[in-house]
Amino acid sequence: MCGIVGYIGDGNAKDIIIDGLKRLEYRGYDSAGIAVHKDGNLVVRKHIGRISNLEDMIQGENLDSPVGIGHTRWATHGAPSDINAHPHSSRDGRIAVVHNGIIENYVKLKQWLRENHNIEFKSETDTEVIAQLIGVFYDGDLLDAVYKAVDMMEGAYAIGVIAADEPDKIVAVRRDAPLIVGLGNNCNFIASDIPALLKHVRKIYLIENNETVVITKNSAKILNEERKEVKRDVFNVTWDADAAEKEGYDHFMLKEIHEQPKGIYETLMRRLDENDSIKLDGITLTKEELDKINKIYIVACGTAYHAGLVGKYAIEKFAKIPVEVDVASEFRYRDPFVDENTLFIAVSQSGETLDTLAALREAKSKGARILSVVNVVGSSVARESDDVFYTWAGPEIAVASTKAYTTQLICMYLIALYMAVLKGSITEDYYKFVMDELKALPEKLEELLKKEKDIEEIAKSQYKRECVFFIGRGSDVGVSYEGSLKLKEISYINSFAIAAGELKHGTIALIEQGTLVIALATQDKLYDKMLSNIQEVKARGAYVIGLAKESNKEIEAQANDVIYIPDCADEVTPILAVVPLQILAYYIAKLRGCDIDKPKNLAKSVTVE
Ligand code: G6P
Repeated sequence: MCGIVGYIGDGNAKDIIIDGLKRLEYRGYDSAGIAVHKDGNLVVRKHIGRISNLEDMIQGENLDSPVGIGHTRWATHGAPSDINAHPHSSRDGRIAVVHNGIIENYVKLKQWLRENHNIEFKSETDTEVIAQLIGVFYDGDLLDAVYKAVDMMEGAYAIGVIAADEPDKIVAVRRDAPLIVGLGNNCNFIASDIPALLKHVRKIYLIENNETVVITKNSAKILNEERKEVKRDVFNVTWDADAAEKEGYDHFMLKEIHEQPKGIYETLMRRLDENDSIKLDGITLTKEELDKINKIYIVACGTAYHAGLVGKYAIEKFAKIPVEVDVASEFRYRDPFVDENTLFIAVSQSGETLDTLAALREAKSKGARILSVVNVVGSSVARESDDVFYTWAGPEIAVASTKAYTTQLICMYLIALYMAVLKGSITEDYYKFVMDELKALPEKLEELLKKEKDIEEIAKSQYKRECVFFIGRGSDVGVSYEGSLKLKEISYINSFAIAAGELKHGTIALIEQGTLVIALATQDKLYDKMLSNIQEVKARGAYVIGLAKESNKEIEAQANDVIYIPDCADEVTPILAVVPLQILAYYIAKLRGCDIDKPKNLAKSVTVE
């Protein structure tokens, strides 16, 4: 997804901005560009492809300047190209704009600019409309021109703007797309995301919706819609800059897989007191409020949706409240039954996924209470929720989500158990049993990660497959979906997951000699059923990799390969079972020579519909 970085100060804007953009590469992009002040003019350079292409393009050119804006683009309006890349300029080239998000009324605005100001457009983008609008309103006061332009713009966006005639400032606006201000010494920044600035600043302002920002070398002002200055507390970023680097691993994904024991430990232990009672910071739901709740929706996209599937299982089992899980893009358009007795749980790593945000707003407008499970502190989903439960996974850089997923699962269990205790739907003994199982997970996960080499060996024998099926029962179904998504996301293998009991209702027709089936059989009570399903596919020629608990050895007689997870209660297997699938997907993708951290066509944070 698009990234914005802007800098003004004593340093060299070009180098600082390009470095910042590189730290946003994980968001996914197809072109990059930069605009800097130079001798009373603005110089814009942009290039399709990686940031290194842009660097090659400007190599040897003197673009040293104390102020500039830069952008990485992920195409929405208009294909990836040099012309469509940002920054975009006004007709006279004296205004430059970078933009994340979408201007929904851009066609109307384009027509207005053509008819009233004879503007000819160079690109197919909605962003150029912003630059041209600001250009026609500009008469020496950039801030005023930006306010006038924004007044006409509809949509969800963050923009950064500079003007050739005002080299002392950058103006930025936030409406439904992330924007932060970084506060430095003799310099200030704007950016769409914290990692872009970590190398330079720790103090930031989180900009709210409909706010406009003016930064100069020595000041940073936040203004509301009435152009009045608003005060904001400084947010101190505690992330270590190193946490956003690979730390010796070949890929961020592998590093993040290995960070899971720590992530789970943090997420869990920060919420338990000395008696193992759950203290949900950020959640104020009382017993009276919970008693009124008669329906829970868990709504999310991608991997977060898969965490929701396990959340349903945990909440229904422990708290005995019916739960429906929905993908956000469906929920928001299907007029779901929601009222003030509904609890809406949004799950999102980034907290910026537009569909999730829109579904949240839809539920909120109908009176639901909003609880979110989010990784990025201060993100839009977090800010618009009544209760927020952070996953504490740390920054996740690889596009394919791993540690965010397992920490989301921990949050789901904690929320389910918390509700169960409030409602009195769980006995003390059973609560203690499940809690002990959860607390044992970080260590078991460490043990499981030691099998990485064995799983790599399996990957070596399987990486040429072109079609893979994941099957499972009970809570293994959600994990099968996630394992399948991991594989297809990063290895581009055609992979499909299905509840094992559904196989015979159609999908089994596709099983033939040599088809790879990954069978999850981690649930004791469904183990025998899974062994039968394995036999069914084996009888049709499938090659089966089984996944089971260490003690359940009968599977060896059925499956061609077996990956064991440490023994644990059925209740918590999803957290362990997904990890070998992440590792398998990783090594298969590596052997196939794929761009693991930045898979084609995918973005880390999808802030468009
Ligand atoms: C994108 C990412 C997925 C992620 C999904 C939801 O598609 O590639 O990895 O699961 O968005 O993102 P969120 O930030 O809301 O969890």
